[in-house]
Amino acid sequence: MLTNKRILLIIGGGIAAFKSLDLIRRLRDQGASVTPVLTRAAEEFVTPLSVSALAAAKVYRDLFDLTDEAEMGHIELSRAADLVVVAPATADLMAKMAHGHANDLASTLLMATDKPVLIAPAMNVRMWEHAATRRNLATLQGDGVLVVGPDQGNMACGEYGPGRMSDVPDIIGAVAAALRNGPLKGRHVIVTSGPTHEPIDPVRYIANRSSGAQGTALAVALRDLGARVSFVTGPADVPPPGGVDVIAVETAAEMEQAVAAALPADAAVFAAAVADWRVLNASGSKMKKDASGNAPALEFAENPDILAGVSQLSAGRPGLVVGFAAETDDVVANATAKRLRKGCDWIVANDVSPSTGIMGGDENAIILISDAGADVWPRMPKAEVARRLAQRITDALDGG
Ligand code: CTP
Repeated sequence: MLTNKRILLIIGGGIAAFKSLDLIRRLRDQGASVTPVLTRAAEEFVTPLSVSALAAAKVYRDLFDLTDEAEMGHIELSRAADLVVVAPATADLMAKMAHGHANDLASTLLMATDKPVLIAPAMNVRMWEHAATRRNLATLQGDGVLVVGPDQGNMACGEYGPGRMSDVPDIIGAVAAALRNGPLKGRHVIVTSGPTHEPIDPVRYIANRSSGAQGTALAVALRDLGARVSFVTGPADVPPPGGVDVIAVETAAEMEQAVAAALPADAAVFAAAVADWRVLNASGSKMKKDASGNAPALEFAENPDILAGVSQLSAGRPGLVVGFAAETDDVVANATAKRLRKGCDWIVANDVSPSTGIMGGDENAIILISDAGADVWPRMPKAEVARRLAQRITDALDGG
């Protein structure tokens, strides 16, 4: 939630400006107030009236509007916010920001503000890939400007590629992360999520049915409590959330490396369904059927146990290590034994028998196993499980 947060929203002149109308509505739904600023070019795409109506606030448009200066000067306007969001951030606005121009209201506010700035770039793919935009982006990031997106996809100009403004939920996620004002502020949490893919050859792989839903919900809940989240995800069905550091991996070995690179952390939550084995004799080229009809014999090797490895680190172990256990029989006994075997602090156990509908579903029924014993939670949506777990993690870190 963004209750009582004040957002100064600068809307640049691009076709994506229409999404900013929805952004205003969703920011307000989350409890934030929005002060909108339109560039001249933005007015070609959205009207001041619709922006003002959705924001339920005055729209600022002109640097030399004396009424505004009398009511609130541009310096004050730039600082009376908790966060400045530029969406869409056009190539032109990014260039102005990178070079310190202050020749209209938007660029002047961006120069005068002492608050964090988050930009959501949106432009044609060639413009995004242009050397000048690359340089400007690097300059802005070096200056501490936060960036969400752009996404890849079909663009209004008919081309395909990176340049499309991030979807509104992702921008909201990035806003929540930028404000990081919850009880986990200053904490770093690693979350693994999704399945891993273990190649057989360049076109075939072994996978499992994990959707990544529970891990993603956890990353969101931790982010919303203010944590910096390193989200190490295999190829999941559910897209990664905004406002977290996404490290996309394919295999268990890559996941292990990504987790090691993300350390140190205050807590680590291992929600990924990591393949226990990889194909030892994976082929570098596509395997062909053989004329005699013989099926290939695959040899397997055990993958590194990432959870056990981190739990048993002698130096740099996160203060709290949480594993998951998907069981179909003797859930508590198996999960209790797994906690001791792996050396983690908590195990989140669930019954994934097909009759429960949990794997791939929206709900989960978990048993939280710690040294205090087994705590059985009622069945609830995965997002609620995530919120409660994130709260428990917060309490544990505060107490520790
Ligand atoms: N895990 C891991 N690395 C692996 C395997 C599992 O980090 N190579 C983590 C998972 O992310 C999860 C927990 O360990 O947190 C699950 O343990 P695992 O032994 O894989 O569970 P099962 O496959 O259910 O174990 P078993 O085969 O013993 O039932």
